[in-house]
Amino acid sequence: AAEHKFVLEIPKVELHVHLEGTITAELRWKFTQRNGTKLRIAKNGPELKTIEELRTAMDLLRPDSSRVNNDEERFQFFEAYYEGFECLKTKEDFFDLAMHYFEHAATVNVRYCELFFDPQGHTSRGTPWIVMMEGFREAQKKAEKELNVKSAWIMCFLRDHSPESAMEHYRAALPYRDIIIGIGLDSNEEDRPPVLFEEVFSLARHDGFKLTMHCDVDSKNTHDHIRQAGSIVAGQGLDRIDHGLNAADEQGLINLILKRDVGMTICPWSYLRHTTYAELGPKIRVLYDAGIKISINSDDPAYMEDCWILENMLLVRLLCGFDDKDIAVLARNAVNISWATSTVKEDIL
Ligand code: HPA
Ligand code: ZN
Repeated sequence: AAEHKFVLEIPKVELHVHLEGTITAELRWKFTQRNGTKLRIAKNGPELKTIEELRTAMDLLRPDSSRVNNDEERFQFFEAYYEGFECLKTKEDFFDLAMHYFEHAATVNVRYCELFFDPQGHTSRGTPWIVMMEGFREAQKKAEKELNVKSAWIMCFLRDHSPESAMEHYRAALPYRDIIIGIGLDSNEEDRPPVLFEEVFSLARHDGFKLTMHCDVDSKNTHDHIRQAGSIVAGQGLDRIDHGLNAADEQGLINLILKRDVGMTICPWSYLRHTTYAELGPKIRVLYDAGIKISINSDDPAYMEDCWILENMLLVRLLCGFDDKDIAVLARNAVNISWATSTVKEDIL
């Protein structure tokens, strides 16, 4: 249809996608075969013997608004997500994984992206930094040259690990700071408020990194976490908030986000794990209509029935009643709230 063509062709910037959330069943199978690693959907799960078994197990993890607010499901997702890391061993694996994202990105006209990665999930398995980062660097160079997709990396700390571990990883990553543009915070948010990580976020800002943080829709203290991320962490609050959808419930939070001009990365498909269709469209609309610079993103496409940025844009188009003009605003927001150089931004706009 015509709207599909418009959404497909518009130049895009993606700001919220976890590289480890792009390990599709096909990629996982390939890496597992190559490295001789075991294939399981969870650490204590049975060994999976075929790609079909893996596909079926991953399919059960997709967001489904008919079973929302299920705590167990969140833990199942994280268990599977981290078990998925196990197939990554060599520089070639990290290179291939990043290249797989960039190749998909090129097909839907993503021209620039800031990609999350979770170093703690790799160092804890014995992966040397150089293996991860040089794999990323080579893929990034190749994508820029051959696919016209530019990129930068956002290093996320796992909030269910200690602030000390975050600090250690921050310091260990400094030799690679030429390709790391920002610092983020992800993983399970329960009882892990933003202010716990004040020290490392303040230091990172002082050192010139951009700052963002997940405020997931299923956090029990969602409004307080958005307030902390928006106004307290690193002295005055962060540069962006990832998700933060529940700001739509409180005018005070909306005002705060507008006043500080905080960009927000919204991942519609992801919220169907904890939100109904009926609730989702209106909430996104509240933020959009308030004039907040929200962008549309994919989060963990391999765990979301292969829904990438294009499918997420089509979903909000439908759920929020957006027209092509609105889609163009959302795409422009992503360019504006990105941390790309002005030259790169102007080239996309
Ligand atoms: N929430 C928090 N952390 C994450 C997610 C998510 O959906 N995906 C990967 N890391
Ligand atoms: Zn995320």
